[in-house]
Amino acid sequence: MMMKDLISVRGLGREDILYILSVADRIHTANYSGDLLKGKILATLFYEPSTRTRLSFESAMMRLGGRIIGFSDPKVSSVAKGESLYDTIKMVESYCDIIAIRHPADGAAALAAETAHIPVMNAGDGANQHPTQTLLDLYTILKAKGRLDGLKIGMCGDLKYGRTVHSLADAMAHFRSELIFISPPELQMPREQLRELTQKGVKWRETADLQKAMKELDILYMTRIQKERFADMVEYEKVRGCYILDKAALQSARKDMRIMHPLPRVDEIHPEVDETPFALYFEQAKHGVTIRMALLALLLGKIR
Ligand code: CP
Repeated sequence: MMMKDLISVRGLGREDILYILSVADRIHTANYSGDLLKGKILATLFYEPSTRTRLSFESAMMRLGGRIIGFSDPKVSSVAKGESLYDTIKMVESYCDIIAIRHPADGAAALAAETAHIPVMNAGDGANQHPTQTLLDLYTILKAKGRLDGLKIGMCGDLKYGRTVHSLADAMAHFRSELIFISPPELQMPREQLRELTQKGVKWRETADLQKAMKELDILYMTRIQKERFADMVEYEKVRGCYILDKAALQSARKDMRIMHPLPRVDEIHPEVDETPFALYFEQAKHGVTIRMALLALLLGKIR
């Protein structure tokens, strides 16, 4: 692969995606752990909280023999003194070989990539994109269903601010699956993205009725209502707890439907669902290490 950075899934074609997933699967099958990235340093710059993305990036780098630097809270870096993103990247690029950045502002990862001469990976920028999450989501679907085409995939919850669903919908445009967007009217997918999906020939529809939609789904991708993205808490209170999946709610689901979630969850999936065959979300999160190992090796030119 000839890409320098991974900022958006929009920069990836169908073959690129399938290639990344095949590299990840080789790593997974071999249970690889070794010195492929010995001497390389990953900087994780997290301007927003994270558990899975940061720790799985760091675990991936360590499993490949590399080392890590970075911050998980901008308050303990010179960002707290007012240093710009541009200046931070100009400095950090001289301390490491590759950067993973999470930032609350849409477009921050693109700015970092334009600034840096080393590879930059977007670990989530505002409500925009979360491409490494999408690749692990696709890998999870492929492992569970054996294909990415010909599926009915429901995405449910905060579709307005949810970067994971924005990225996933963009990526699924390369595959002949149907997308069902399930949300309250206040949290629907951005109109512009829906127009683009239509132009690309993607079959999609919207509904607020999770119970009705669930009957036909192969995958139900739940998301959290993200309190931190709301400027007005009155608006948040209107949609808080709008979808809650428990065992009773799953009565109408197909037996082979699988539930995914980028996590963290709040109340949208009851813990009693965890023990059912529907639950795929913890398996999904585990794939984060494999996918990020593949991306680190590819972007650092150790696998071609
Ligand atoms: N899925 C995800 O991005 O989780 P974290 O916020 O914990 O990294």
